[in-house]
Amino acid sequence: MAWKTLDDMDFAGKRALVRVDINVPVENGTVTDTTRIERIVPTVHDIQDKGGKVILMAHFGRPKGKVVPEMSLEIVAPAVADVLGLPVTWANSDYADAVSEMEDDEVLLLENLRFNPGEEKNDEGFAKRLASLGDIYVNDAFSAAHRAHASTEALAHLLPACAGRLMAEELSALEKALGTPERPVVAVVGGAKVSTKLDLLGNLVGKVDHLVIGGGMANTFLAAQGINVGKSLCEHDLADTARDILGKAEKAGCEIILPRDIVVAREFAAGAENETVAPNACPADAMILDAGPATVVYISDVLDNAKTLVWNGPLGAFEMAPFDAATNAAAAKAANLSKAGKLISVAGGGDTVAALNQANAADDFTYISTAGGAFLEWMEGKTLPGVAALR
Ligand code: 3PG
Repeated sequence: MAWKTLDDMDFAGKRALVRVDINVPVENGTVTDTTRIERIVPTVHDIQDKGGKVILMAHFGRPKGKVVPEMSLEIVAPAVADVLGLPVTWANSDYADAVSEMEDDEVLLLENLRFNPGEEKNDEGFAKRLASLGDIYVNDAFSAAHRAHASTEALAHLLPACAGRLMAEELSALEKALGTPERPVVAVVGGAKVSTKLDLLGNLVGKVDHLVIGGGMANTFLAAQGINVGKSLCEHDLADTARDILGKAEKAGCEIILPRDIVVAREFAAGAENETVAPNACPADAMILDAGPATVVYISDVLDNAKTLVWNGPLGAFEMAPFDAATNAAAAKAANLSKAGKLISVAGGGDTVAALNQANAADDFTYISTAGGAFLEWMEGKTLPGVAALR
C-alpha cells in the first residue's frame, strides 16, 4: 500500500489528530442519518486501544471562514458520543486548553474547522496551529479528500501521517473497482445532467467494458443521435459532446448502453399516467421518466457476465414511483449477484446511496462509499489532494 495505516503507527501515550467527515444531515437540531459517524468508529476505538488520545477534526456545512452558529459541531457532538459510546467534549476555538485537559478515554471534537478562513485556504499557519495540538495525523475522511484544505492536505506534511480504517477501506474498495478490476467491468452512471458528469464519462469510457447511461443524461445522448425526446429533461447544447463521448467509447471498445425502451408521462408527478414505448417514440408533449423493462433485462444480462460494477446515479426519476422501477430492478439484480459472490459492486456519490437504500439493495452491495463529491472526482480519474498527501 502506498500509504501508512493505523497498524504502522505507535499511538501509546500520543495524541492523534483525526480528520473525519461528520458532515451529516441535521433537521431541527437532530442528526437524521448517522452513517458517516458509524463509519469512523473502528478508527477511534483502535487508536484508543493502542493507548492514544483522539482529537477529532471536521467540517460541517459551508460557513466560508466565518462563525455560523447553526453550523457549529456542538450540534453534532451528542450524536458522535452516542454512536462512539464514549464521552465527547466539544471544543470551541480554545483548542489548546481543551487538549491539555483531556482525559484518556475522552474524545475531543474541535469546532467546525471551516469557521477559520485558513482551513479552506490550505493555510500553512492554520495547519501549524492544528499540528501543535497532536503527535500523529490520521486522515479518515475520504469523502473530504477532494478538498485541498489545511486539515486534509497541509497538516499531512507536518506530522507523521497515516490513513484511518475508513480511508483505507474506501481506497482499497475503489482500487478493486477501477484501479485493477476483474473484468468485464460495468459502470452505471445516471442522474439529471451530462454537464456535471462530462469528465467522469470521458474517463470511464477508457476504463470500463460497458457503460450504462441512465436518467436525464440518457435523454441528451438519445437526442444527440437525432431522436426526438419531447419535453424530456435534455441538454441539447451538449449534443456534440455526447457524440464525442460515443465516438471515444467506440474506439476504446466500450459498449455504451442507452435505454432500449422508455417510460414516458405527460406529468412529472408520482403515479402519473405513463406508457412504455420505443426510445424513438416519445410523444412530443411527454417526457421520459425512466428506462423500461427491456432495458432492465439487457442490463441484467450484462451484469450476469460481469465481474465488477461501479454505480453512480439513478436510472430514472427514482424519487417518484413508478419511475423508480428500472433503478430498483437493476439495483436488486446487482445486489443479488454481489450476495452470491459473483460480482464486486461499489457504489457512491450524491443520490446513489439514497436510491440503493430505497431499492433495499445497499446492504448487499460489496462496498458503499461514504463519499459524494470525492467519489465523483475519483471516477473522473483525478488525484485527490487528501489522498496524495498521505503517500
Ligand atoms: C460531503 O458532504 O460530500 C463532504 O463532506 C464534502 O463537503 P463539501 O462539498 O462542502 O466540501
